[in-house]
Amino acid sequence: MKKILITGGAGFIGSHVVRLFVNKYPDYHIFNLDKLTYAGNLLNLTDIENKPNYTFIKGDIVDGDLMLSLFKTHQFDGVIHLAAESHVDRSIENPMEFVMTNVVGTVNLLNAAKAVWKDNLEGKRFYHVSTDEVYGALGHEGFFTEETAYDPHSPYSASKASSDHFVRAYHDTYGLPTIISNCSNNYGPNQFPEKLIPLFLNNIRNNKPLPVYGKGENVRDWLYVIDHAAAIDVIYHKGPDGETYNIGGHNEWKNIDLIKVMIKAMDKKLGREPGSSEKLITYVTDRAGHDLRYAIDSSKLQNELGWKPSLQFEEGIEKTIDWYFNNEDWLDSTTSGDYQKYYDKMYGNR
Ligand code: NAD
Ligand code: TYD
Repeated sequence: MKKILITGGAGFIGSHVVRLFVNKYPDYHIFNLDKLTYAGNLLNLTDIENKPNYTFIKGDIVDGDLMLSLFKTHQFDGVIHLAAESHVDRSIENPMEFVMTNVVGTVNLLNAAKAVWKDNLEGKRFYHVSTDEVYGALGHEGFFTEETAYDPHSPYSASKASSDHFVRAYHDTYGLPTIISNCSNNYGPNQFPEKLIPLFLNNIRNNKPLPVYGKGENVRDWLYVIDHAAAIDVIYHKGPDGETYNIGGHNEWKNIDLIKVMIKAMDKKLGREPGSSEKLITYVTDRAGHDLRYAIDSSKLQNELGWKPSLQFEEGIEKTIDWYFNNEDWLDSTTSGDYQKYYDKMYGNR
């Protein structure tokens, strides 16, 4: 039985990757290692938590001794590393937390894998999940490719860029079998309501202001989270060692246009006058160092490994809105922090 360590599996994207792997690969044992920060929520995984091929481990990747002892105890065959501090605005407030988790935590995992795998690299894989934000900002034209030079602007993207460099360095220096993907902005079920889409859906629901940074003209390339998880599955299993793949949906939206799409759909669901929630739009001071535009060229992944996004944006955003409507308890417990009590109930006495 293959043993795979997934870090950050209680977070937004990680929970979808854990679910996919636990359900699709009954002959793998999936270990979900997560510190359960404000962004980690075990309620994301209640449907699979009792499966025989799933184990949750509460732990901090910044603890290098713990990482090494977990590798020694469980003898993981593979790692899919998603644990990170992930919100740009928080990184502007507290960069050091991003250095610790995103850089030091990643190097701890690399060291543990290197130490335990050194005598037999056969069948081993260290997959590092990264972001397109490492490439910096585009003007109105062009796309990020795998050859685009790194040019991060926020403490978040600088910490992810640094972690990517360490992963490549461990491949080139020690021959560690690594692989990296850089994905565009994700949306979908279970995203913590501090990121644009769930924050605004929740605020529209509660008739609260929608804080649009600057003029709302920044552009992001949105991918449904299930499609990101599917890409990770393909890359983990088929991508050659040492490679990098960009993942994106060819789905660019100016923030203000995306916000209007959300308002239209939400007003319909809430039985409000069409467009009436536009009055909630509030232009606020721009984010410092705000990248103008991200857009991914994912043709390498599509051509070499045959992945492509399964959903059109209109369908994805409808599914997302439906999910938040049908899971108001999740949203309420997440925004109040109550979900953190779930760990004590489930695992507190172990
Ligand atoms: P998230 O913030 O929702 O989840 C992060 C998870 O990591 C949480 O469960 C948290 O508890 C855990 N974690 C944080 N610090 C930890 C530590 N020190 N030790 C162990 N666990 C820790 O993030 P997400 O949006 O799901 O992103 C997951 C990964 O994907 C990140 O590496 C991020 O950089 C990358 N990514 C995200 C996006 C996006 O749009 N959200 C896009 C591209 C890449
Ligand atoms: P976000 O979801 O934080 O992702 P990222 O910064 O990693 O791309 O933000 C997406 C876009 O939405 C980005 O251009 C910033 C903007 N934004 C707002 O205008 N207001 C907000 O309250 C937030 C959270 C984001």
